[in-house]
Amino acid sequence: MAAKHVYDLPRAGVQSDWTMPQNWELFTPGEHAVWDQLIEQQTRAVASMACDAFLSGLDILRLPKPGIPDLVELNPRLRAATGWEIVPVPGVIPNEPFFRHLSERRFPAANFLRSAEALDYSEEPDMFHDLFGHLPMLADPVFADFMVAYGKAGLRAEGLNAVDQLGRLYLHTVEFGLVQEHGALRVFGAGLLSSSSETVHALTAPGVRRVEFNLARVMQSDYRFDEFQRTYFVIASFEDLLKVTAETNFQPIYDRLRGRPLLASGAACAGDRLVSVAALSGAT
Ligand SMILES: [Fe+2]
Repeated sequence: MAAKHVYDLPRAGVQSDWTMPQNWELFTPGEHAVWDQLIEQQTRAVASMACDAFLSGLDILRLPKPGIPDLVELNPRLRAATGWEIVPVPGVIPNEPFFRHLSERRFPAANFLRSAEALDYSEEPDMFHDLFGHLPMLADPVFADFMVAYGKAGLRAEGLNAVDQLGRLYLHTVEFGLVQEHGALRVFGAGLLSSSSETVHALTAPGVRRVEFNLARVMQSDYRFDEFQRTYFVIASFEDLLKVTAETNFQPIYDRLRGRPLLASGAACAGDRLVSVAALSGAT
């Protein structure tokens, strides 16, 4: 039976901003063991494919005691790096509080973990996706500033009826983004890094479009929840991503895109600049 959506669950203990106590002491030995297994297997799986910022940010998750990170121990380490902190929430939360948390350097993380029977899959983003996938990048000062800029843009998009367009920026970067680094393609998207099979697909599968990042193109590009993406966007650097997000007036782009059909994942678009994996690796 499908799990009930978090909106339908009782909200006992959940505040008006959707945060809740972590209640670390209530996690069972079995849940701690699932976390340790996931961390070990996924860290190994993405070691050669993740970008430098992600790999160094992983250190924040290496706490003295094993098991699910206790936010009392974790948050001071993240705060010291970039001023961000993790706030527990029951699951996916509505847009407005999500954007507000980001704009104020709080990352909402689901306070539940997938089961031992479904290590490779969580119906909704769970604690492993949110902490393993997202936290390491929040320890990078430039990416951390980008996420604040995105949160502020989200609050503005709410008033411009443009959350869907803006949300595609998040999906194609924060969740599924690739970056050129050391003459190769590396992964920084949390949706990829918490799934090693899609990480391999994004970097190596033939027939996948890997397109240089272009803001309007990204905002017009559909994405797939039911299968791996067929288009991935490649940024040149996190500095570039921060600059374009913090300094662009999105409203003319929203206005221009309104009413236009979405580009399907894998579809070609005039002006696309494709990134060739072979060219980057120096192959002929
Ligand atoms: Fe995510």
